[in-house]
Amino acid sequence: MLSERLTQYSEWTEAKLAELLSTGERAPILQESMAYSVFSGGKRIRPALCMAACELCGGDAQDAVYAAGALEMIHTYSLIHDDLPAMDNDDMRRGKPSNHKAFGEANAILAGDGLLSLAFYALSLCPDSDALSAIAKGAFEMVMGQSLDVNSGGDESLLRQLQDYKTGALFRAAVSAGAACAGASAQQREALVRFANAYGMLFQITDDILDCEGEASALGKTVGKDVQEGKTTFATVYGLERAKEYAKTYAHEAREAVLSVGGDAAFFTELINYTLTRKS
Ligand code: IPE
Ligand code: IPE
Ligand code: MG
Ligand code: MG
Ligand code: MG
Repeated sequence: MLSERLTQYSEWTEAKLAELLSTGERAPILQESMAYSVFSGGKRIRPALCMAACELCGGDAQDAVYAAGALEMIHTYSLIHDDLPAMDNDDMRRGKPSNHKAFGEANAILAGDGLLSLAFYALSLCPDSDALSAIAKGAFEMVMGQSLDVNSGGDESLLRQLQDYKTGALFRAAVSAGAACAGASAQQREALVRFANAYGMLFQITDDILDCEGEASALGKTVGKDVQEGKTTFATVYGLERAKEYAKTYAHEAREAVLSVGGDAAFFTELINYTLTRKS
């Protein structure tokens, strides 16, 4: 059930992304470098959560397709910039050389700029202004998180805030935008935000764990970088065993929150279980 729904949401999102990216043909390297990173096999979890939240609140997933496309473009831009030598200095992403390795740093910076700009163009076509606000807020919070990340210097007191912003923010944006596109009630929106707060932590903690004990071939990115770069993560601060306990606690919180939305939340509970034991 989970994988069929993820595949369906990905197909809808990718069709919209292909349409949106086709507008760059007069700057072929920009267009090629944006497409290189966007169409290289990301898990598409943020667009899926956006569409699933829309459906859970009684809407049609297609009503959230512009928001879903915008979220994936903002996420992909964040990854391109995250990999730059000035940030995490990562050579692999989504199983291929990082954008700057394939196109050079200047083109990678521009690919990120282009995706962010196109995301807001897509949102201008989304009929719901609350969806636009939620995603704009999430995009800025993600950058705040990246700023805390690069300046944290292993400071444990910043850990939760940093992870909540750099990763939780786009999950909050995803469910809030999906709920807005469905005209959800305040109670449904609030419960979905509580879900995203916990799910974001779960997602980043499992990312941190995989950086220590994952397989590069499954992850599509280099492992062992967080220790090497002196990053502040649940694994580097607490060690793997405690990080795994925290992941379970956040998974439990995410489950409770999404069940309180009402309706059939099976997609969400299966996604939580998958995330807890994910290998990629
Ligand atoms: C990676 O996100 C960055 C984090 C927030 C940990 P994903 O693990 O969702 O990356 P893709 O989209 O599947 O490549
Ligand atoms: C990245 O966190 C979060 C972003 C906003 C891109 P990481 O730096 O841990 O993500 P990966 O491990 O490179 O995917
Ligand atoms: Mg990073
Ligand atoms: Mg990184
Ligand atoms: Mg990581």
